Amino acid sequence: MSEIRKIGICTGGGDCPGLNAVIRAAVKTAILKYRYEVIGVRDGFDGLIWPEKSRLLTLNDVSGILPRGGTILGTTNRGNPFAYRINNEGQETVHDLSDEVIKNAKMLGLDALIVIGGDGTQKIGLQLAAKGLPVVGVPKTIDNDLSATDVTFGFDTAVHVAMDAIDRIHTTAESHHRVMVVEVMGRDAGWIALHAGLAGGAHVILIPEIPFTIESVCSYIQQRHIFGKKFTIISLAEGVKVPEDVLKECISRYGSVPKGISVGNLIGEAIAQGSNKEVRVTVLGHVQRGGSPSPMDRVLSTRFGVAAVDLIAQRGFMKMVALRGDRLEFVDIAEAIGKMKGVDPQGEMVNVARSVGIHFGDE
Ligand code: F6P
Repeated sequence: MSEIRKIGICTGGGDCPGLNAVIRAAVKTAILKYRYEVIGVRDGFDGLIWPEKSRLLTLNDVSGILPRGGTILGTTNRGNPFAYRINNEGQETVHDLSDEVIKNAKMLGLDALIVIGGDGTQKIGLQLAAKGLPVVGVPKTIDNDLSATDVTFGFDTAVHVAMDAIDRIHTTAESHHRVMVVEVMGRDAGWIALHAGLAGGAHVILIPEIPFTIESVCSYIQQRHIFGKKFTIISLAEGVKVPEDVLKECISRYGSVPKGISVGNLIGEAIAQGSNKEVRVTVLGHVQRGGSPSPMDRVLSTRFGVAAVDLIAQRGFMKMVALRGDRLEFVDIAEAIGKMKGVDPQGEMVNVARSVGIHFGDE
């Protein structure tokens, strides 16, 4: 087994609270436990296409970054070296720069690379591994929809932010007797909407995994009204499937679905028409991805960072760290990618929500 002296670390895809905590833990473990040198690869894999961007990380570089959101390495979700888009005076061309990456990784002396990212980033890592760059993966997404790990860091922080927003929305919703739609992130899965809705006491939760109708939501709002509850809070995942009739109505009114309109606004408008109530929509967006990670995310990120370097030391290449129950485990990246973990409509969490009277717009 050849000796490991120098490793690289990079963050790819969208950022998320806890990335810096992973970087800090990995750098500290590499230097203090294994005496490795660590190269910080800038802006996803870009730092291996242009290696002059990358530089040695010292203990000093990671000092004080535990509570910081974002990533000190920078990131991009447009940096796939196998299909790199270059824009030349408005003309976009796509190039395979993976050979450059492998050549530059060798030139930098990297014996292994820690790839922190979601599905897309891990897939690129695997393709680079197939070309001879040993990689280990650390899963990341605030959406918590990777099947390989029970939880991803960043999710807890995002839920805190969304819950806090729902808490704040409560008082104003109640004062004005309004329906308030809070649109949260979750491109394919409803985990943030479900957890924040439960934690914040939302009355309706709309998620991609449970098809809903506006009629059902409006009749629930009406029932609440009859029982003296004149306001309703809806926690809505951005990835919900917009009901056909809503889309048709929108197209007949505007000619097409207006560009840039959020799903929350589309649904909010339909609810306003169907319920005869005043509706306001709050789109939380990237607020959920920014800022300081929660204690739980800092701890999970630190565990992941340490485990990733331990994995390198054990030559566990093409594997990814994952949380299963209380334990950290190593799983094959190839097995882990491409398998989404959605909310189970029949699962315990949805059952708990239904038991406390939360409506999913499906009955
Ligand atoms: O996958 C994480 C996520 O935050 C999704 O919830 C959201 O749809 C998407 O990324 C936003 O991506 P971007 O930052 O590129 O707009």
